[in-house]
Amino acid sequence: MKFNWIIAPLILMIATTALAHEDVKNLTVKERMVSMGSIVGNMKTLGGMAKGAVDFDLEQAKAALAEIEDIAKTVPILFKENKMDPKSEALPAIWTNFSDFTAKSKAMEGAAATALANFSDQSDLIPAMRALGGTCKSCHSEYRK
Ligand code: HEC
Repeated sequence: MKFNWIIAPLILMIATTALAHEDVKNLTVKERMVSMGSIVGNMKTLGGMAKGAVDFDLEQAKAALAEIEDIAKTVPILFKENKMDPKSEALPAIWTNFSDFTAKSKAMEGAAATALANFSDQSDLIPAMRALGGTCKSCHSEYRK
């Protein structure tokens, strides 16, 4: 399989993520970090199949997309309250531009839903990951340190 050069940046984005939440004192912050962690967990499932590290499994791939869609729906709720923690990477702009922030989470939800609706085989993995990856980036670039 020759698409490693396409997914390399995605894998990198996933791999550079710190997922230690023990030190996070604020529960609201912890909850939203854990949710982001679940999103990335599902992206890893897709990435592993795209790389060929694990066998392709249609049901598992669809389940990962469905879970990303479900978590995306909760993002506006998880971030509704302006809570901070020394460990948080959230930028204050979230709460001054909350409707734009919400629109960006809607974009992730939409990308997951569209990918899921059109998903039929292994060749759909990369397009799905790229579409989703773009929505992560567009939100993180403005709202995450
Ligand atoms: C609507 C905005 C938005 C979208 C879309 C979004 N994120 Fe995030 N993400 C954030 C914010 C804000 C934080 C920082 C939260 C904090 O530290 O309080 C974050 C944090 C994270 C973290 C770090 C969690 C931790 O433990 O510190 C990971 C991993 C992550 N996002 C992955 C993703 C992936 C993968 C996608 C796309 C599939 C995605 N995010 C889409 C806003 C978003």
